[in-house]
Amino acid sequence: MKKLFFVANWKSNKLSGDVDSYDLGLEKEGDGETEVVVCPPFTLIDGLKRLVEEKGLKFKVGAQDISPFGEGAYTGEVNGKQVKEFCEYVIVGHSERRDHFGEHDEMLKRKVAQALENEIMPIYCIQDENTFVPEGVSIVAYEPVSAIGTGNPDTPENAERVAESVMSKNLGVRFVLYGGSVNVGNVRGFVEKEHVSGVLVGGASLDPDKFADLIKAAS
Ligand code: PGA
Repeated sequence: MKKLFFVANWKSNKLSGDVDSYDLGLEKEGDGETEVVVCPPFTLIDGLKRLVEEKGLKFKVGAQDISPFGEGAYTGEVNGKQVKEFCEYVIVGHSERRDHFGEHDEMLKRKVAQALENEIMPIYCIQDENTFVPEGVSIVAYEPVSAIGTGNPDTPENAERVAESVMSKNLGVRFVLYGGSVNVGNVRGFVEKEHVSGVLVGGASLDPDKFADLIKAAS
């Protein structure tokens, strides 16, 4: 069986009081086949990490962003060393960051470099098969803009086409995930495709029971 990733992107949602109930009730993880990663906003990362450790929850904690710089005078930024204290993964290049915060290839390259330097695994979002992928990226998430938060997902067939195309470029990418309006009803269609190695989930990851159902529906 191929390895499958289920990545939750909470985006700019939830408050500290919401974290304690985020128990996905997963019995196994880290068995080499399934990796579940939950990416809250920075303010909630510490709380979620504590919850995972105290309750022995079977998922990893990831960040939604990382500074393109190291430590120093960069007001508002969270650098790689700081992210690494809590996280094994970081989402980089999400289209919302490109659109609303002007992130561009050069900056994203630096963010990937900072992640790798600090031994954090970047989950690099691409919008189509022609999106630039920086060197050193192992996990790519194909997220067509028209599918994000719209209830209008891409087809599994097209996701497979893009995933295969990315893999065929021999850039060092090992896993291609699909993201954009993934839900409990459509997840299986995506992960069944040969070159699709999991999903990046926004809206359907906010409720822990729904996200747990989505993970179960995929296997
Ligand atoms: P969505 O978001 O699942 O709410 O469409 C996916 C994403 O942007 O990562």
